[in-house]
Amino acid sequence: MANMVRPADMARIDTPALAEAFIAEQVKEVRAQVGDKKVLLALSGGVDSSVVAALLIKAIGKQLVCVHVNHGLMRKGESEQVLSVFRDQMDANLIYVDATDRFLDLLAGVDDPERKRKIIGGEFIKVFEEEARKLEGIQFLAQGTIYPDILESDGVKAHHNVGGLPEDLDFELVEPVRLLFKDEVRVVGHALGLPETMVERQPFPGPGLGVRCLGAITQDRLAALREADAILREEFGKAGLVKQVWQFFTVVPDMRSTGVRSGKRAFDWPVIIRAVNTVDAMTATVPELPWPVLKTITDRILAEVPGVCRVLYDLTPKPIGTIEWE
Ligand code: XMP
Repeated sequence: MANMVRPADMARIDTPALAEAFIAEQVKEVRAQVGDKKVLLALSGGVDSSVVAALLIKAIGKQLVCVHVNHGLMRKGESEQVLSVFRDQMDANLIYVDATDRFLDLLAGVDDPERKRKIIGGEFIKVFEEEARKLEGIQFLAQGTIYPDILESDGVKAHHNVGGLPEDLDFELVEPVRLLFKDEVRVVGHALGLPETMVERQPFPGPGLGVRCLGAITQDRLAALREADAILREEFGKAGLVKQVWQFFTVVPDMRSTGVRSGKRAFDWPVIIRAVNTVDAMTATVPELPWPVLKTITDRILAEVPGVCRVLYDLTPKPIGTIEWE
């Protein structure tokens, strides 16, 4: 049984040198645990699974089989980045599953947030299980469990969604970053050469854009949400706000409002900007964003995103408002 308690004298990994030492030690440990067997990993492209993937590629190369499931609710460019970093640059053994239609078909007409979450989580496990069953000789399952996951739950990383695999797929777990805190995982990620945009990525919910395209998801509103979110991220990047704001995203409600475009009446969707600062996501405050940045984002969304005629900035702190809208 792997050690699940962080030793009191374990140094905080906060320098490149300490990260290198950690990597060297984990490479040795993983090789000893795995031998010449194969390891499966659900690679979402989030910080934790990406760092685990890079670490395992270093340790065991092609014995690692990564599965990236695109549920169709990823942000713009995210699946492409996973493919370019891991398949093209790191030469990983990577299976890419575009399951967009499966997810969107199941979600059609479903407007209850918790039901949406259940469908997305359940289908994710199904797709992953199908891929796992196609493979032969897998004995291990790698997971991006980090120390707060162990402290806060029973060690099962809920948002990685592979905790619910059927019992006959009883892989032994490989969890090389299980004793690290998030900031340490990022330092290790940098030392492994992962791109800044991947390592410094803000939290992104497992159900992805699915809980930001409010109510029953439609392809056109989802497309508008994805474009608006990409503009927001780009402008936050240009304005140097990425490291100053903890989480920021857009939301598209399932209602329309009146506008005027080219002298004609429009009846289109609003886009809501949500930006928050927090320490633990239990409470959150809304930062005072520079007006020119908000104005640029508004102008660009209105000019570039079809079907949108209004942009709003959500000023609600948590409590009462949760960070996500659903
Ligand atoms: P709320 O909306 O509860 O969000 O204030 C707190 C933090 O949790 C994230 N969040 C989720 N993460 N699956 C996840 O993996 C979910 O279903 C989910 N819902 C909310 C949210 O983005 C914020 O960082």
